[in-house]
Amino acid sequence: MKHILLIIGGGIAAYKSLEIARQLKKKGYDIIPVMTASAEAFVTKLSVEALCGNEVHSELFAPGQESKINHIALARMADAILVCPATANLLARMAHGLADDLATTILLAAKAPIFVAPAMNVRMWEHPATQANIALLKQRDVHFIGPAEGEMACGDYGLGRLSPIEDIICVLEGHLKLPAPLLNKHFLVTAGPTCEPIDPVRYISNHSSGLQGYAIAEALAKLGAKVTLVSGPVSLATPLHVDRVNVVTAREMLDQCLKALPADGMVAVAAVSDWRAEQEHSEKLKKGHQDLTKLKLVENPDILATICRHQKRPALVVGFAAETENVLDYAREKRERKGCDWLIANDVKAGVFGSDRNQVSILDGHAIETWPMQTKKEIAARLAQKISAYFSQL
Ligand code: CTP
Repeated sequence: MKHILLIIGGGIAAYKSLEIARQLKKKGYDIIPVMTASAEAFVTKLSVEALCGNEVHSELFAPGQESKINHIALARMADAILVCPATANLLARMAHGLADDLATTILLAAKAPIFVAPAMNVRMWEHPATQANIALLKQRDVHFIGPAEGEMACGDYGLGRLSPIEDIICVLEGHLKLPAPLLNKHFLVTAGPTCEPIDPVRYISNHSSGLQGYAIAEALAKLGAKVTLVSGPVSLATPLHVDRVNVVTAREMLDQCLKALPADGMVAVAAVSDWRAEQEHSEKLKKGHQDLTKLKLVENPDILATICRHQKRPALVVGFAAETENVLDYAREKRERKGCDWLIANDVKAGVFGSDRNQVSILDGHAIETWPMQTKKEIAARLAQKISAYFSQL
């Protein structure tokens, strides 16, 4: 049986840790609860004990307890530690190595992987002090789950809500069910459209919801990969454990992709605008004053082709092809022209944009694999498995 040490911090989201404990216990994990003094202002020891089925630990020096189980023993018995909710204060104490209560002392003594699920007001989350503490903790391989964006208990809106309970459990379980086949592999994923400004109010772009690219980034991360997601403007939440870099134009996307190298693999899903206005006007173009035939377009760099020919080319490069006719013929030609290993072709006439379903064929230069119509998440999971099988054979 795996032991999860659940450290409950003092925040309004503390009550959600009870549901997490309940669900994890139901799945067969042993939950050892530790509460900070301020957590006791939000949830009672009695309810935590009842849901975890184990005694709550909260005192650093508990007469009579020391010989039975002390902080070192608690730290040693954990297969994973979950800090939930992780308040700004708790993160600060962790970052600076304070050991002024049982929770922080365990965190200093622990060898098990530490997961933190932050929850706090958006301004506290964004404060440079908190951000600096987070950066320190990330350097020490503390895993962050969230926070999520949304409305807060205080009425503010933004980043700082506790991640959904299912996400927290999924990340923990993903870790406890190791091995992760893509651990130590780095993937670069492009997603979404690019927008090429004509003037301050107009731009050239492509249809793209970003759903497929985001699902692929998420599926690779779930297999343990480090994922850099270079994303054009979309309104999607960043998948768990994915490093997202936001860009607007194709040239910015190329720059950020080059910066992300070296990578073991690349999946180019972005709908990059093939053209941009030769000149970006600094003022809004007025109707009637312009000869529209003079809007001159120039070609954007081809990101996929550039990475394929780069000296730091990833071992596996996968491209997408959005076609409206002669899908497989164009895809074959595109794979060779761009120089990628696999090309995933889809017929965008089939109402793919914005839909959560897609039907694709994968060309690798030898064979064509055609997958049935399925959700973009299913395609992503199957592709991540195929990528993982490819790396296991190298
Ligand atoms: N792509 C890219 N950079 C570009 C254009 C496309 O990286 N400037 C990538 C896309 O992310 C995708 C693949 O190339 O993985 C094919 O994109 P697609 O739009 O289908 O091809 P095009 O390059 O536009 O080719 P064509 O105009 O012949 O359809």
